[in-house]
Amino acid sequence: MIVLGIETSCDETGIALYDTQRGLLSHALHSQIEMHSEYGGVVPELASRDHIRRILPLIKQTLTAAKCELQEIDAIAYTQGPGLAGALLVGASVGAALSFALKLPALGIHHLEGHLLSPLLSTPSPSFPFIALLVSGGHTQLMQVSGVGQYKLLGETVDDAAGEAFDKTAKLLGLGYPGGAALSKLAQQGQPGRFKLPRPMLNSGDLNFSFSGLKTAVLTLVNKQEMNQQTRADIALAFQEAVVEVLTKKSLTALSQTGFTQLVVAGGVGANQQLRENLTNKTVDSGATVFYPELEFCTDNGAMIAFAGAMRLQASDEENQQTANSFTVKARWDLEMLDIPANR
Ligand code: KG4
Ligand code: ZN
Repeated sequence: MIVLGIETSCDETGIALYDTQRGLLSHALHSQIEMHSEYGGVVPELASRDHIRRILPLIKQTLTAAKCELQEIDAIAYTQGPGLAGALLVGASVGAALSFALKLPALGIHHLEGHLLSPLLSTPSPSFPFIALLVSGGHTQLMQVSGVGQYKLLGETVDDAAGEAFDKTAKLLGLGYPGGAALSKLAQQGQPGRFKLPRPMLNSGDLNFSFSGLKTAVLTLVNKQEMNQQTRADIALAFQEAVVEVLTKKSLTALSQTGFTQLVVAGGVGANQQLRENLTNKTVDSGATVFYPELEFCTDNGAMIAFAGAMRLQASDEENQQTANSFTVKARWDLEMLDIPANR
């Protein structure tokens, strides 16, 4: 079964073809980062218009790269939410139109379910059940994942997401948008121990996070210091160390509380090397294993949507697989509200 995946929830147009027999056949991505960087953040209307320009050429490119004809596709999976409503509408309308024209089942996929299941695209891959640390620009959550559609929220940020904190701190340090990767690169030149920033909610006794105070602590530091390249790097390192320590400790607590032995890291911040090293070392110490998606599948992409669609189709009854007659998008959508696909 070949599934076409379409991702347009924010500032990346991602398309992929996933075959349940042969795996990922091809995928293509257009990032709008350059377009939005001029404004220091994503401009929703520009995002929607760019998705419209890119989506059909990217679908054609993906089909050509896989040597696949449109008629060979068995189902369409598109991101239905959460995200920017206008941007989501582009992928949803193209996905629904293709489903209607080709008489194929269409599945509206939850963007975070795509991120949660993306580590299953890599080898070695985890098996259910596992704990997922979801760290993106919009979300920071610890989830208990027992199967496709079986997600229990264990904890989440009470204010800024980890990626958002990286981006805002990067801005304070004069780096471009989005700044997570640039901040992490700058931190490599930092001297450990020069600055120590707070570890928010480290000992809160629950699995929630808070990152907005950390950004304020950086602002205070920036205002107090004579800024030069070394100081910027030292602050970047101190910030990264604080975020990594909190994310690591809470992930380990989630493992010990549930008794699970597998941790999956998903979302853009999962590309952070210091987080990866720290989590890998600490989970090995505790006898657990940590899994990461390939770097290119950590950030938004079409492959995770095609894959989530394929998993849902495989787990559901055929009579539940419907051709689209209409479509909706959900700018806000609670992951725990997802249905569990009915078993065959
Ligand atoms: O998952 P994603 O592509 O989009 C959302 O769904 O939000 O995540 C993007 C976020 C941005 O905040 C970006 O700064 C952050 O991931 N990010 C990083 C790194 N690469 C991307 N944060 C820290 N270190 C990185 N290497
Ligand atoms: Zn994302």
